[in-house]
Formats: sequence, C-alpha cells, structure tokens
Amino acid sequence: MDEFAGRVAVVTGAASGIGRGMAEAFAAAGMKVVLADVEEGALEATTTAMREAGKDVHAVVTDVGKHGAVEALAKDAIAKYGKVHVLCNNAGVGGGGGSIWTTSLQEWQWVIDVNLWSVIYGVKAFVPHMLEHGEPAHVVNTASLAGLLTGGDNSPYSVTKFGVVALSESLYMQLQRTGGKVSASVLCPAWVNTKIMQSERNRPGGAQPPKQSNAMVRELRAWVEEQLREGLDPRSVGDTVLQAIRDDRFYILTHPDWTPMVEKRMRNILDGKNPELVMPPGSESLLARLAKLPQNG
Ligand SMILES: NC(=O)c1ccc[n+]([C@@H]2O[C@H](COP(=O)([O-])OP(=O)(O)OC[C@H]3O[C@@H](n4cnc5c(N)ncnc54)[C@H](O)[C@@H]3O)[C@@H](O)[C@H]2O)c1
Repeated sequence: MDEFAGRVAVVTGAASGIGRGMAEAFAAAGMKVVLADVEEGALEATTTAMREAGKDVHAVVTDVGKHGAVEALAKDAIAKYGKVHVLCNNAGVGGGGGSIWTTSLQEWQWVIDVNLWSVIYGVKAFVPHMLEHGEPAHVVNTASLAGLLTGGDNSPYSVTKFGVVALSESLYMQLQRTGGKVSASVLCPAWVNTKIMQSERNRPGGAQPPKQSNAMVRELRAWVEEQLREGLDPRSVGDTVLQAIRDDRFYILTHPDWTPMVEKRMRNILDGKNPELVMPPGSESLLARLAKLPQNG
C-alpha cells in the first residue's frame, strides 16, 4: 500500500501511547482515522486535540475484548467513511506479574480478551471488507518483543503476544494467497514511553488495590517504569509503522539492540537447550540495584 491521502485507518487503543502515535502519523499522511478506545475521557481528549490540529477523525468508544463491540466498530467505521484501508489491532494491557499458578483466572481472562481475542475479532470484522472493496489495504497487529522472547514474570502478557505473532504470520501468508492486495505486519517493540504500566485503569470492575509486594518486585517495577520513560516516543513508532506499511514489511522491530536476545532464544531451541532467562539491554543497572536490597526485603 503506497497511497495514504484520503484513505481510512482504524486504530484501537488510539487514545494513548502507540495507538495515538500511529493515529497521528496516519493523519499527518492525509488519512481519515477512526479512533477506538475503551477509555472515554482520554478518547475525547485525543479526538479534540487531533480535530483542533485540522485532522479528519471519528471516535468510537469500543471495548476490544468484546466481539459485538468490534463488529459494531467495523459497521460504524464503514458507515462513516465508506471503506477501511488500514486496521491497527493495537489496544492492549500489561496485566500483573507473578507465577502462572498464582495468577487468577480473571487476570488471565482479561489479558487474553484484550490482547488476543481482540485481534481475532478485528481480523474477522475487517478483513472480509478489505478483500471485498479490492483496494490496497493493510492490517497491523501490535504484539511486542514479549511475543518473541520469554523470561519475564508476566506470563499472560507474553502468552497473548506470542499468540499475536503466530496469528499475524498466518494472516500474512493467507492474505498472500488471495493476491496480496491486502497485507499484514506485526509490531514488536521493546520500551516505548506510554501508559502501559497503568493498564489497571482499564481493568473491568476498576483498578484493584496493588497486591502485597516485596522490595524486589517494587524495585523491578520502578526500573521498568524508568525504561518506559526513557523509551521511544510513540509518535516515532507511528512513523515507523507507516513506513513499514509503505514498504510492505512484515516484522516491525523497533529496537535493534534487543535482536540478539531473539537470536539467543532461537539458538537455544535449535541446539536443544532448555529455556534460560535472557536479560535485556541495560539490565546491569537493575541487577546492581537488586544486589543492594536487604536480604529479606
Ligand atoms: N509501551 C511499550 O513499551 C510496549 C512495548 C511492546 C508492546 N506494547 C503494546 O502496545 C500496545 C499499546 O500499548 P501502549 O504501550 O501504547 O499503552 P497505553 O496504555 O498508553 O495505551 C493502550 C491503549 O489501549 C486502551 N485499551 C485498554 N483496554 C482496552 C479495551 N478493552 N478496549 C479498547 N481499548 C483498550 C487504553 O485505554 C489505552 O488508550 C499494547 O498492545 C501493548 O501491549 C507496548
């Protein structure tokens, strides 16, 4: 797809972070953008700001974890603008940490609904329409480097992101068989400066009081928040995604310093080695801080 002006994009999770960055990049390229998000206040603020900047945007409050809501989003977008050319299945939540067996089923359910079922709903709601209208179109699914690497203590998140990578690879190959006018990409970033660590704000039933945590968990969380603050600007990720669509590039990896970790995991698999924790770039500072904690902190 190489023409953007006047074309239509739908972005989920558009009220904040990477979603907003993509929406702004698409609008700057002359696209009309449907902004979908569950967080009404933030969605309104983003819509107002983009309209004030002269952009043609349409907001639809959508809970992407609900099939009916994503179907309704597709109907609304098509009713408003006629055709959809770019779909970004981007909305996502971080979820909490902990071991698989102590993580509640509600937690698993929430993270899988928002991060994985949403992508299935999105593909089912929009791809038949894209194939039918016959113009170049593109689906971008936001996974994460957590969809190519394991090792963190955030299993539901990682499970959903591996699912999004697998689904996207299949989608790409299936679309190729239809003639290639509709294509797909998967976005796998590491740290981006967003509100992902405040995902609790969108938890059904409201945010829960933080679980009792020890000093190590608190230190780890503080370190991750720092990495995010120092991470990529979401708008620059939006520009990268726009260029990837233009180039029909499937894997959108925004953090080249992390790729040796992906290589290491794959090498272990091919060499028949067991899984091991691969530490991300910059983790020396974390290890130094953890080493300073009192033993029973
Ligand atoms: N920030 C990072 O470092 C990073 C890295 C890798 C992948 N990601 C992925 O990027 C995507 C965007 O996250 P972000 O980092 O911009 O975080 P963010 O919290 O700033 O934005 C996420 C958006 O999704 C919305 N959302 C949450 N639940 C929703 C639901 N049920 N229905 C509709 N919208 C919902 C939120 O309201 C928010 O506007 C997520 O899929 C996330 O997993 C982020």
